[in-house]
Order: sequence, then C-alpha cells, then structure tokens
Amino acid sequence: MKALLLENIHPAAVETLEARGYEVELRSGSLSEDELIEALPGVHLLGVRSNTNVTAKVLDAASDLVAVGCFCIGTNQVDLKTAAAKGVAVFNAPYSNTRSVVELVIAEIIALARRLPEKTQRMHEGVWDKSAKGSHEVRGRTLGIVGYGNIGTQLSTVAEALGFNVVFYDTADRPAHGTARRLRTLRELLEVSDVVSLHVDGRPGNAGFFGAAEFAQMKRRALFINASRGMVVDYEALRDHLVSGHIAGAAVDVFPAEPKAQGDPFDSVLRGLDNVILTPHIGGSTQEAQEEIGWFVAEKLARFALEGSTALSVNLPVVQPPELPAGHRLGLLHHNVPGVLADLNATFAEAGDNVVLQLLSTKDGLGYVVIDAAEPLSTAALDRLRAAEYAVWARTW
Ligand SMILES: NC(=O)c1ccc[n+]([C@@H]2O[C@H](COP(=O)([O-])OP(=O)(O)OC[C@H]3O[C@@H](n4cnc5c(N)ncnc54)[C@H](O)[C@@H]3O)[C@@H](O)[C@H]2O)c1
Repeated sequence: MKALLLENIHPAAVETLEARGYEVELRSGSLSEDELIEALPGVHLLGVRSNTNVTAKVLDAASDLVAVGCFCIGTNQVDLKTAAAKGVAVFNAPYSNTRSVVELVIAEIIALARRLPEKTQRMHEGVWDKSAKGSHEVRGRTLGIVGYGNIGTQLSTVAEALGFNVVFYDTADRPAHGTARRLRTLRELLEVSDVVSLHVDGRPGNAGFFGAAEFAQMKRRALFINASRGMVVDYEALRDHLVSGHIAGAAVDVFPAEPKAQGDPFDSVLRGLDNVILTPHIGGSTQEAQEEIGWFVAEKLARFALEGSTALSVNLPVVQPPELPAGHRLGLLHHNVPGVLADLNATFAEAGDNVVLQLLSTKDGLGYVVIDAAEPLSTAALDRLRAAEYAVWARTW
C-alpha cells in the first residue's frame, strides 16, 4: 500500500499513514498533469495542497488510486465529479484551522482598538507619539459576529472570555454559545456592535453581501473585520467609510482577487490607510493548523482505505461505520438505481450469512452501502457483485 504526498505536507500525515502500514513517498513541490500521470501507477492514496490539479485526465490514468486527500480547506483543485464517478473518495480538513482564524481576529480587534498599526508606523518613522487618544480596552464592548458557524461560534466563546458582550446574526438556526445573544436581523447587529466581524461562507448569494448600506448602518467609530471571503465585501465602500472617519479601523485578510504565488504583487483600494491591517489570507495559516490538517486528513484517508468509512468525504455518499468488527465487512459503491439492496440482501441470504450491520447513504446518483456480516462472502458471490451493472466497486475488509 503506497501513499504519495506532495507540496510539503506536514510530517504528522506521514506518521499517521506509516502507523497504518503505508509506504509514504514525500515530495516538496507540486506536480504537473503529465508528471502526476507518470507518478501515480502503484499509488493508492494521493495527498495534495492547493497547487496540484487532479484533473479528469489524471484520474482516468490513475487506475490504482483509491482516495485523494486535500491537506487544506478547498477542494476545487480536484475534479470531484470525475473522482466520484470513478469511486475515488476526496477528503479535506474543513475545521482544522478554526482556532487559528479566531486568534488572528482577536489579535486584530485588540490591535485596532489600541491603534497599533498607526503607533508602530510612527515609531518606525522615528516619532514618539505617546497618547491615549482613541485607544480603548475591549472589555465591555459589543462584538457582532455575522455568520455563527465553526469560526463564528469559537470566536464567540473566546471573545466572551475577554469580556466582550457578544451578539450574532446567522441566516440559519444556530444556538447561542455562553451568554451570546442572537439578533433577528443584520441591521439590529450593525446598530449595536462596536466591532463587526464577518464569518459567513462563500455561497454565491453572499457576493457583495456587505456594502455601502451596511457600513452606513454600523455604529460611528466601530471596527470592521473580514477574514471570511473577499467577494462578500465591497472594499470601495469600506474605504469611503474609513476615509470619512465613520469606521475607525478595519482588518482584512481576504480579497476578491488574490495573487497566486508567493512574492506576487498585491493591490487593493485599502492599501495606504494607516488604520487598516492587511494580511495575505493567513487567518488559518499556523504551524498548529498544518499539523492538525496533517493528521486529520491522513486519518480520513486511512479510515476509508482500511475500513470503508467515507466520513467527511466531499464527493462520495457519507457512511461512517464503527471500527472494524470481529466479523467481515463489505463496502459496495454503486449507481443509485432500484433493486441494489434487494440484490445484495438476497446474496447474503442465499449464502446463509447473518448481516449484523447495514448502513446506506446516497448522493448525486451514487449509493454506498456498508455491511458487516458473520461470514465473508464467497469469491464467486463477490465477483458477481463486482460484475453487476450497478457496481462502481466492491471491497472487503
Ligand atoms: N481567512 C482564512 O484563512 C480562513 C480560514 C478558514 C475559513 N475561512 C472562511 O471563513 C468563513 C467561515 O468559515 P466556517 O468554517 O465558520 O464556515 P461555516 O460554514 O461553519 O459557517 C458559516 C456560517 O455563516 C452563515 N451564513 C451564510 N451566509 C450568511 C449570511 N448572508 N448572513 C448570515 N449568516 C450567513 C451560515 O449559516 C453558517 O452558519 C468561510 O467563508 C471560510 O471560507 C477563512
């Protein structure tokens, strides 16, 4: 069993896979389409970050490939549809950098409340500007969190511990954490918050979600943070409100168009304002998050390959069976057509085999069923299942 990990994936991934019996090959860079096609024969698990494109052509040529791990948050570098059609599971790490984003946001709020960007700038210019004017503690201030998902809820807990009053607005039903208060409209949140922090997701409907009207509704001299997605905010409108003094300061980590490579030039209408912290999409970029991503994704790959679990797969139906039982496990990925379960159950009944667990899930035209049984199916029965028109693959553990 072989795993190929590209793009400097954290050693935690290597340790996790080696402990599960994999031979791991590590490469520091990404590979082109042709290089990948050449490298993949004999590889069962492939690990990539955001710079390796796993295209349909690559997937067509990779006959030994069982799963792809994206050791990052995004998965658009992989042709997910083709991977699903071939039964190749794709995994990522959607929550591993939550804490890192929260810590950056907290740091930025305090830095802006104490006017650190301007103060440090003056010091570097050789000017001693000792004054308390415009500097505030955050204790007792109201933090408005827009988007109360993984990051928003964790920010809520940490901010409350610092003495913030937390209010939040979310379009979905989200229970309040700690003493946070849910507000029914965005407008209510904007009117009461001393700091507004955006943590909405990147669904298409959120493009341009926060613009001139929303900035105008914010409290005078409030602070604004965006570490969610660049396209959700109209930064021209933010600039206008910063220049007019209505917004006291802002921290922005994400931009509508971000440079691709390290060292590429960057431009934004927010450049040059000394009450704005600009960071190059580093909210989730910490050593701790990389380590967490390393073992999290490696564990998902191993549990899929060795136990049949598709837990948190982004492209296959999700079935999360318990750890391997003393008995025998069959996994069948199939086209979601009528009669598959009946056929499968008949196969076990004819063999006189007792089914102790059966889990099924379907998604986008595919079905995945996991069966734990008292006895293994015979080779002939397995061959018949594998040859069935509905089968994508059948595996046993
Ligand atoms: N800066 C970084 O490095 C970094 C790192 C990780 C995640 N992110 C981004 O942070 C954002 C939040 O991530 P998450 O894991 O918490 O996502 P999540 O999906 O767990 O939470 C998003 C929440 O926003 C809510 N929401 C969506 N649209 C809304 C709207 N218009 N108004 C109010 N609520 C709305 C959803 O109902 C959900 O509760 C995402 O956009 C993600 O891409 C950035």
